[in-house]
Amino acid sequence: MATQRFLTGITTSGTPHLGNYVGAIRPAIEASRRADTENYYFLADYHALIKCHDPAVVAQSRLEIAATWLALGLDPDRCVFYRQSDVPEVMELTWMLTCMTAKGLMNRAHAYKAVVQENEEAGSQDPDKGITMGLFSYPVLMAADILIFKATHVPVGRDQIQHLEMARDIAQRFNHHYGELLVLPEVVVPEEGSTLAGLDGRKMSKSYNNTIPLFETEKKLRKSVMRIVTNSLEPGEPKDTEGNSLFAIWRAFSSAEETAEAAQWFAEGIGWGDMKQKLFEKLNSELAEPRERYNALMANPAEVESILQAGAARARAESGPFVEQLREAVGLVRA
Ligand code: TRP
Repeated sequence: MATQRFLTGITTSGTPHLGNYVGAIRPAIEASRRADTENYYFLADYHALIKCHDPAVVAQSRLEIAATWLALGLDPDRCVFYRQSDVPEVMELTWMLTCMTAKGLMNRAHAYKAVVQENEEAGSQDPDKGITMGLFSYPVLMAADILIFKATHVPVGRDQIQHLEMARDIAQRFNHHYGELLVLPEVVVPEEGSTLAGLDGRKMSKSYNNTIPLFETEKKLRKSVMRIVTNSLEPGEPKDTEGNSLFAIWRAFSSAEETAEAAQWFAEGIGWGDMKQKLFEKLNSELAEPRERYNALMANPAEVESILQAGAARARAESGPFVEQLREAVGLVRA
């Protein structure tokens, strides 16, 4: 059997939080340590331009996100870790795919439709208000990200399933027309219930503003933990672990034994203040080292840059020859 190749894009926006770590970063790093798969991880900075038009923010964010993954233990020798915009073949394939993509298919994209709906609800004259071609054709760029490296498996959040279906559709149409050149990728979605609870008990997400940033200072981390919403049960009263954010976060960072231990404390009626203190200490002990590495990398962007350049060189060693093959297939041949 051919090797499985996992590939996923990391959006370079926002401040990475515990939920990103537990839901995406940690599983990706674990996967990269497995010997039986190939892993491609890239910073989706072309995608960042869709939503962010502030050059300083775009630049800062891609550095921060790269430093985050490296600080948390991603080993660039065990995967191909690169920046999308360092691989211009992605853009070239994007155009070839764009010319094979039915506009009607893009009309059905959830991300696009959601904005149209917002415009309609706001009573706007123009349903496409504020929608750039970047947003509209975003699924084509995403398809190119995947297809240029012949990925077989693409781990993404559930909100991205439609984009994977579109990537397959587009690839199929290309193959039908030009020959079997593109590999149809399979989507890999996280198990139900693998998302982390946030400060207010809902899923930890920047859109809910209930996150705990990964690399905030120790002092701020403590403050965040103290803000986790609990109920009015007093110390001594037994507490339910089910649906409790403190417990959920504890569990995400603990062994089975430590989790059982915490369940015991809950049953015995540990006070919320004490539990928060314990959770803070646990998180801080897990994050102290990566936080230091993160700060060191942020202070030395040249080191991050050289890691990314090495990743880009490995990536381009594949995308370069492949795009040549694709150029030929579509008729862009040299005389
Ligand atoms: N759109 C993805 C997200 O928002 C990120 C992404 C961009 C991606 N290109 C990709 C994920 C290619 C997987 C494969 O999460």
